[in-house]
Amino acid sequence: MSARLDDFRLTLGSSEYVPIMVGGMGVDISTAELALEACRLGGIGHISDAMAPFVSDRYFSTKYTKAKSLKNRASRDGIDKTSVRFDYEQLYEAQRRYVAHTMERKRGPGAIHINVMEKLQMGAPSETLSTRLKAALDGGIDGVTLSAGLHNGSLKLMKDNPRFHEVKIGIIVSSLRALKIFLRSGKRLDRKPDYVIVEGPLAGGHLGFGEDWQEYHLKDIVKEIIDFVREENLDIAVIPAGGVFTGTDAVEMMQLGAGGVQVATRFTVTEECGLPKKVKQAYFEATEDMVDVSSVSATGYLMRLLKNSPALGSNIKPQCEPLGYTLDKTGNCPYITAWDNTPVDEAGKKLPVTDKICICYHFSKHNVWTCGHYVYRLKDTSHQLPDGSYQLLTAEHVFNDYLYSTDHKISLPKQELAASA
Ligand SMILES: Cc1cc2nc3c(=O)[nH]c(=O)nc-3n(C[C@H](O)[C@H](O)[C@H](O)COP(=O)(O)O)c2cc1C
Repeated sequence: MSARLDDFRLTLGSSEYVPIMVGGMGVDISTAELALEACRLGGIGHISDAMAPFVSDRYFSTKYTKAKSLKNRASRDGIDKTSVRFDYEQLYEAQRRYVAHTMERKRGPGAIHINVMEKLQMGAPSETLSTRLKAALDGGIDGVTLSAGLHNGSLKLMKDNPRFHEVKIGIIVSSLRALKIFLRSGKRLDRKPDYVIVEGPLAGGHLGFGEDWQEYHLKDIVKEIIDFVREENLDIAVIPAGGVFTGTDAVEMMQLGAGGVQVATRFTVTEECGLPKKVKQAYFEATEDMVDVSSVSATGYLMRLLKNSPALGSNIKPQCEPLGYTLDKTGNCPYITAWDNTPVDEAGKKLPVTDKICICYHFSKHNVWTCGHYVYRLKDTSHQLPDGSYQLLTAEHVFNDYLYSTDHKISLPKQELAASA
C-alpha cells in the first residue's frame, strides 16, 4: 500500500505530533480557531502576531488603534513619520491577551505556535520585537516561529525569559546560508532552534527569494539543509513549506528525511480561516494566469498575490498614525515615498499608486489576496454549488485529507446542496 502522511510523526524535543504545521498567515488569516483545530487533531497550528493591537481591537473591543492614532496625530497631514511610536505597554498587553485567550481554549495533543515577523519593524525594531516575543512567551505559547528576517538578535531578546528553554523555537529560512547565520547567533546563548521551516519559492505571503525565484526548487534546498543537519549532528527538525498541496507531496518530503511539512494555501478556503467569504471564493475561482509575484509590498520582499487584489493601484494616504507596522527605525516606509511621488490629475486628485501598496491598511481590510502558487488548484478540492460558488471546507477535512490521501488524490467533502448562509 502507498505510504500516507499519517505513517510519520514529527518529533520536537520530547514531544511528538502529527507532521502537519498549518503556517502563520497574517493579518489574522490563520485565526486562533484554525490553529486550535490543527492542535486538536494532533498537529501544530500557528496564530500570527501581525498587527496584534489591531487584532485585539477586533476581538476584545479594545481601542489601541484609535489611541495610537490620537497620540500620533501631529504627523497626520505630512509625510514625515519619524515621530510615530507604538505604546509598548499596550503592545505587550494586546499580544499577551490574544495569546493567552488562544491558549486557554487549547484542546488535544497538538501545539499552538506563533509566527513572529522581524520585518514588521514598527518604528523601533528591537524594542517592538522584544515586546512581542516577551508577550507571546508570557501568554503561554507553545512555540515561536521566527519569520520574515534573519532574526540575528531574536534569541538574545528572549534569553532572559523563564520560558526560553521550554518554548519550542523555529526559524523560517529559504537557504542553508540563512540557517547558518541564525545558528551562529544562537551559539553564544547555547540555544539551537527545535525546527527549521524551509520555505521554497512557491509559498504564499512574502518570499525569501529575488526575481530569479523560478530557478529555485524546494526539494533541492530541503535536501541541502537535511544533509547539513545530519553532518553537523543537529537535533533540528526540517520542515518544508511552499507548494505541498497533496498528502503525497508531503509523503515525498518525509521520505527525503523531513520532520513534517508546513502548509497554508489549502486552509485558506476553510470555515475557520479568517478571510472574508468573498475572498475565499476569489481563491477558489483563481486561475493560474491570475497568480503574480510582485514587488508591491512595502516590506521590500517579493510577495505572491492574485492580480485582482483590491489593494493594487490604491492611492490611500499612508496610515502610519493608526497602524505604522512597516515603518523602519528612521520612520520610513517605501509606500510613503511611492505615495508622495505619485502626481495628482488636473482636478487635483491623486493618481493610482502603482509601485507599492500600504500593506498595513490593505492587510487590515483583507484587500491583499496573497496565496501560494497552487491557489488555482483549490477549485479541485471542493464542490461547485448550483449558484456557482464553491463549498467551503472544514479545517478538519483538509487536515485529514493531507493525512490519509495517497497517490496525489484529494478527497472531496460531503456535498452541500446550497451555499452556507
Ligand atoms: C494567505 C497567506 C498568508 C500568509 N502570511 C504569512 C505571514 O504572515 N507570515 C509568514 O511567515 N508566512 C505567511 N504565509 C506563508 C505560509 O505560512 C506558508 O509557509 C506557505 O504559504 C506554505 O505554502 P503553501 O501555501 O503552498 O502551502 C502566508 C501564506 C498565505 C497563503
